[in-house]
Amino acid sequence: MDEKQKLDELINIGIAIASEKKLGKLLDKIVEEARRFTAADAGSLYLKEEGEVIRFVVSQNDTLRKRYGMSGEKDNFLSFTMPISRENIAGYVAASGTILNLEDAYEIPSTYPFRFNKSFDEKTTYRSKSMLVVPMLDADRETVGVIQLINSIDENGEAIPFKKEYEKLTFSLASQAGVAVRMAQLREELQSSSLEMIERLSVAAEFRDEDTAMHIKRMSSYSAIIAKNMGFSEDQVEKILFTAPMHDIGKLGVPDSILLKPGKLTDDEFGEMKKHTIYGAKILDGSKHNFIKMAEVIAISHHEKWNGMGYPNGLSGEEIPIEGRIVALADVFDALSSKRCYKPSFPLEKVLEIIKKDTGTHFDPGVTDAFFKGFEEIMQVYDKYKEV
Ligand code: C2E
Ligand code: SIN
Ligand code: SIN
Ligand code: FE
Repeated sequence: MDEKQKLDELINIGIAIASEKKLGKLLDKIVEEARRFTAADAGSLYLKEEGEVIRFVVSQNDTLRKRYGMSGEKDNFLSFTMPISRENIAGYVAASGTILNLEDAYEIPSTYPFRFNKSFDEKTTYRSKSMLVVPMLDADRETVGVIQLINSIDENGEAIPFKKEYEKLTFSLASQAGVAVRMAQLREELQSSSLEMIERLSVAAEFRDEDTAMHIKRMSSYSAIIAKNMGFSEDQVEKILFTAPMHDIGKLGVPDSILLKPGKLTDDEFGEMKKHTIYGAKILDGSKHNFIKMAEVIAISHHEKWNGMGYPNGLSGEEIPIEGRIVALADVFDALSSKRCYKPSFPLEKVLEIIKKDTGTHFDPGVTDAFFKGFEEIMQVYDKYKEV
């Protein structure tokens, strides 16, 4: 490759990296691209964390993958933290912000402050030789992490030292990657804090007690599993997972005397109770955000029934938005299998009997099919988030 080709390649890698929004996949891609660019047999990535430590998060190794028939990038994944200390190689690079280009990790001059930790090699009988280790910096020149490339391979398959010209190019690739990683971290932080806020509000809206946190975890997971088994895309599944928790947010508008009533509701009380769908839609109405819009759709439609006998609008069949049909089944499955202030929990057998009996009247048969297609995963959630 000449200079111009290398720069073009670098720009293309930058674009590929910037387009990956999910942190986990982004990190894998960074190591993959950096290895391809430098013909490195193996590579690792460390991320800086709070408390002056770095976490080992990605490990790729072509030789070990071939030798042990490992299939994916994650097979020899192993996550641990170590201090940002000048005594280990990645720590040294994180602390100093400098590039290290070592001919042989086993022959580090004793005047250098750091040592190579051979324990990984000893466990795997891999021989790490040449090494190019570069810091990943963000737009503020703060260290985000470290990329460690191991054993540049020549055309005969021999490990040779990393070419000098790779140093600057890999550093500039690592800086682009650092900016992308910081963005993905902020995005995930924002997303997980919004999700937590949604869960907290939804819990407040329901029985106003502790048990409900589990109900929300379960019913939103069930909804996501059903959506996945109906062939929804990963993004759509995630959207359901994040919006289903808000389905009963309108219970905020229902008085305690009805919501917490230990026994059966009178007709008037149930009439009040039904309004939680309309209150929910009002709370969520008019947002410009897609997630809140979907939450509104779910809030208004999750008590509609396939045969048109549900509320509040008496919609039937495919008039009911698909997300509402999915959440309807997930919600009832969980309501039946849990204890409520007005009912005991039913055994699984009876719950499934009711679900089957009410399919075609209450539930969309396509949704019920997807529920049973994903039943193994449904049961994992059922067992994992059991009430104590
Ligand atoms: P929820 O407790 O979360 O129940 C959600 C849905 O699960 C119910 O919607 C219903 O479709 C289904 N479900 C719950 N328990 C049973 C059951 O024993 N048998 C059958 N076949 N289905 C059941 P629904 O009926 O529209 O009720 C909406 C909400 O109204 C309920 O949410 C609950 O908060 C409240 N509610 C309903 N009935 C009573 C009651 O008798 N007493 C009290 N205190 N609240 C009730
Ligand atoms: C209930 O038991 O209150 C719910 C009745 C139903 O929707 O089947
Ligand atoms: C029940 O409420 O226990 C059974 C009702 C039904 O079969 O729908
Ligand atoms: Fe509801």
